[in-house]
Amino acid sequence: MRHTKIVATLGPACSQPDTLRALLNGGVDIVRLNFSHGSHESHARSYAAVRDAAEATGRTVAVMQDLSGPKIRTGPLEGGQPVTLAPGQTLRIAAGDKPGNSEVVYTPYEPLIRSVSRGDRLLLDDGRIELRVEELRHDEIVTSVVAGGSLGQKKGINAPGVGLPASAVTEKDAADLRFGLHLGVDLVALSFVQTADDVQRAIDIMRDAGRSVPLIAKIERPAAVSNIDAILGVAQGVMVARGDLGLEVPLEQVPRMQKHIIRRARAAGLPSILATQVLESMRVDPRPTRAEVSDAANAVDEGADAIMLAGETAVGAHPARAVETLDAIIRDAETMPPSERVVPEMDPARSPHGRAVCEAAVTLAATARAGAIVAVTREGHTARMLAALRPTTQVFAVTPSAGVVGATAMLWGVTPILTTTEDINEIERLLSERHLVSSGSVVVFVNISAELNRLDANFINVQRFQ
Ligand code: PGA
Ligand code: MN
Repeated sequence: MRHTKIVATLGPACSQPDTLRALLNGGVDIVRLNFSHGSHESHARSYAAVRDAAEATGRTVAVMQDLSGPKIRTGPLEGGQPVTLAPGQTLRIAAGDKPGNSEVVYTPYEPLIRSVSRGDRLLLDDGRIELRVEELRHDEIVTSVVAGGSLGQKKGINAPGVGLPASAVTEKDAADLRFGLHLGVDLVALSFVQTADDVQRAIDIMRDAGRSVPLIAKIERPAAVSNIDAILGVAQGVMVARGDLGLEVPLEQVPRMQKHIIRRARAAGLPSILATQVLESMRVDPRPTRAEVSDAANAVDEGADAIMLAGETAVGAHPARAVETLDAIIRDAETMPPSERVVPEMDPARSPHGRAVCEAAVTLAATARAGAIVAVTREGHTARMLAALRPTTQVFAVTPSAGVVGATAMLWGVTPILTTTEDINEIERLLSERHLVSSGSVVVFVNISAELNRLDANFINVQRFQ
């Protein structure tokens, strides 16, 4: 079995039913709908296509809605045509959504104009174009082009080191989030989080909407790295969003920040997703570079719960092959013992006995050479606690809740099973029927609950399957 999960981003390259089925058969655990692109109609169609493909393949997949957050972008251009920016030339950036040209480009994100200082750098279009701020005017900034090139419409702007007003949930995000919850997404990721308050705001919107799903904070601003522990105190997971992070901080710091974010998430007992450019060359080529293979394998060693493909599956030439390649890389990397052991610092006040029960189950499973640990879980806490302990034994999260199935999809080493029964004999029958546990295997059943007065909860039970 594979412990580290695979996230694949949906896009034009994989939205045909047969490609989507190939992706799921290749091992995708979570499909990402990227709300930086597309309309509500197109996302509704994609969502239905994913559910159809899951049904057709018999695979359990979770759908993750990725909210665009306050991504700063340039506006439209005159005639829709790209403009050429030459090094040394002057380019003004003004607030608004008018079409720009090679002298002035607009941005709908007005706070940018007020937040920059002379000498700051602005990176456009994933850093392909670099500008230096020369002069601040009332409603525009005057920059000089340091690195030039062709600039298309609506390209990203990154302002490294510039403190921007905190509010990771834009009006568009709030509307998208309500739409996604209504659609039925299992997980929500929020871009450009800076503080725990940003995360809380999204959680409050879910509560008001009457449907809450796990919130994953995308760590792609330096402020979020500084506030990582506070963010982990509120979010249900984090994503190392290396694309924007690598523009917001010097590139050479990204590997160190990646390790730090993954370590802190593991210490908090929460899942992390490693994202961006994982098998980037496979957008074009059928085989990844050796450096990409090594990067993905190192993410496994660092203990990421999941690895994400973006352009590789969304717009690449070999979407299914990219998934199969990542699956093979992860499986091989997982045969090596991890180079570092991270002990979760989980808050014992949450469930004073819960961690001890799960640790005992993990030890018992290892000593008894068990084939599986079965977490009987209503809210998913047992599964999350077990995943945090990184058992070598595979974990089945048996739950009556479709919400828990979605939430556990990103947990390292956890396979969710949806069923209403909590009866151990019935669960045994179900796992045997589906050939998930072979006959003669030892299986450890575990359940934790905050309520110690429930006779049906807080147990460890070891069985040999017929
Ligand atoms: P994005 O996030 O693809 O939404 O930008 C990932 C990243 O920035 O790495
Ligand atoms: Mn990003």
